[in-house]
Parts: sequence; C-alpha cells; structure tokens
Amino acid sequence: MSWKKVCAVAEVPENALEKFEIDGIEIIIANYGSGFRAFPPRCPHMEEPLCDSGVLFDGMLTCTKHLWQWDMATGERTGIAEKELLFYDVKQEGEDIYAHVEQALVYEDDDDDEEEEDDDDFFNAD
Ligand code: FES
Repeated sequence: MSWKKVCAVAEVPENALEKFEIDGIEIIIANYGSGFRAFPPRCPHMEEPLCDSGVLFDGMLTCTKHLWQWDMATGERTGIAEKELLFYDVKQEGEDIYAHVEQALVYEDDDDDEEEEDDDDFFNAD
C-alpha cells in the first residue's frame, strides 16, 4: 500500500478523534488543532477503543481508562503512560487527509512466556 485518502478535513473537527477503515485496516484520525495524527484504534495499554475512551484537548490525547497521555505535536508519551503510540504518516493535501498505510500497526504484547518462572524449580531449590 501507499498513501491513501482517508477522509475530508471537514470530517475531523478540531479536538475530534474519528475512526476510518483503509483497505480493511482501522485507523483513527485525530485533529489536535495545529495538525493531524493517524494511529491504530486501540489504546496500547489495555486495548480500549480510543474513539470511546480517548479525549483530545489542548494537543494532548488522554485515554480516560487509566489516564495515559500522549502529546500529539511531538508524538511522545507523557505523564504515567508507559508505551508510545504507534503512528501512521499522515498528510493534508487540499481538503483531504491521507495516511501512509503499509500494514496494520500492532502493539507488542507484554506477555513474555520465555521469562515465566518455573514453579518446579522453586520447590526443588535447596
Ligand atoms: S486502557 Fe488506555 S490507559 Fe489503560
């Protein structure tokens, strides 16, 4: 894939988060006042749908479930957020918004089976 038209600028008013689908991939377009961001629809914390749990105000996206926050201008996490948001490149051309979507961006799972403790080793220890 490459640059794809997502929507018209007018479909995403300032401080709005709107979900769209591009060739079967769901993305959110956020209008933070001085620009747009495009990112996957789920919070990287516990996969809450950011269209429902996300609030965009003063350039800051807050997931209201546990108050993780990201600065939309820099794209960086802030406050207590422990994970970065993943972003698709986004651009405005005239009255339209485009996103560069190669494949769905997916957050890594925290579960790491290789580091799981082996209970048998614990009980066999001298
Ligand atoms: S699910 Fe979004 S901050 Fe916890």
